[in-house]
Amino acid sequence: MFNSKIASFAKCVPENIVTNNDLEKLVDTSDEWIFSRTGIKERRISVSENTSEICAGAAKKAIDAAKLMPEEVELIITATISGDYYIPSVSCIVQKIIGAKNAMAFDINAACSGFIFALSAADKFIKTGTFKNALVIGGEVLSKFVDWDDRGTCVLFGDGAGACVIKRGNGRGIIAEDLHSDGEKGESLMSSYIPVDNPFCESTEETFKFIKMGGREIFNFATRKVPASINEVIKKSALSFDDIKYIVPHQANSRIVEIIAKKLKLPMNKFFMNMDKYGNTSGASIPIALSEMSEKGLIKENDKIIVTGFGGGLTWGSALIEL
Ligand code: ACO
Repeated sequence: MFNSKIASFAKCVPENIVTNNDLEKLVDTSDEWIFSRTGIKERRISVSENTSEICAGAAKKAIDAAKLMPEEVELIITATISGDYYIPSVSCIVQKIIGAKNAMAFDINAACSGFIFALSAADKFIKTGTFKNALVIGGEVLSKFVDWDDRGTCVLFGDGAGACVIKRGNGRGIIAEDLHSDGEKGESLMSSYIPVDNPFCESTEETFKFIKMGGREIFNFATRKVPASINEVIKKSALSFDDIKYIVPHQANSRIVEIIAKKLKLPMNKFFMNMDKYGNTSGASIPIALSEMSEKGLIKENDKIIVTGFGGGLTWGSALIEL
């Protein structure tokens, strides 16, 4: 077995900022309602770039910061639920844009837990010696799947991408992880049903495109599963919360994070939050947060952090990482 180390973080978000006040012009809502229920003030909404383009933007910065030439990249995994196409994958389009012509590239669909699942897979590829480095991306243009007439969901989501490079190195990479799925509850959060449609069937099923969410169900699921998952990685690692610099949760809702902190009896300043600026960017939220933390000097080499996520599938999980 080899060791792994995260070498860089980067992000790329669309320039267009949509504030809560802007949304008041689209649906019957208010800045006060949105901020007090979710902690979100504004989000980035793409007016031109599709998912692959912003993912490539984050990917380029991450490989430069990791001092890798594009042709040296061996693996690209993108966590996304909002690719430009079914085929080719976002990872293959990123490969083409950045010129990583020697990489193996594929996508992972695990919604808001996607980046953690992708990082877990990449860490295994490195530790087993299959590859010496991997580019792990989380990127979404969710605004394509948002019903802009539905005030219950359109205020929540945003677009953006984050990336990291993980390499064979003298670190521990993921020290402990706890990853789960529960397909039984998949209907709590869905988007884009594609029914069977061919000359041999009489399809009567209704199709739909937009995100449908049982908000309260997801809220309860997250506040129940995430604290247990964080406790599990602490237990598996034989470390204590004192050893952990930050917990970086999926940036869906500040009230969810407050309940998680209370259940774990941890102060809120142990949790990093930036959903006020970006909203819920699904698979991109954790790498965008990590990139911002790295830019601000909040995390540095050898720090131990926990990333934790929850979302469609349903999926959830945590990873305790040594940087
Ligand atoms: N502005 C004003 N009023 C609103 C809005 C809005 N944007 N949205 C809903 N309301 C109204 C509802 O119509 C309802 O009105 P009624 O009582 O007259 O029927 C009232 O507010 C309460 O609605 P609820 O849905 O019960 O509000 P709740 O307190 O549950 O908050 C929220 C809704 C913010 C969505 C919350 O349930 C939540 O955060 N859930 C978790 C969602 C989440 O984290 N999803 C992402 C995880 S998965 C992923 O990231 C892809």
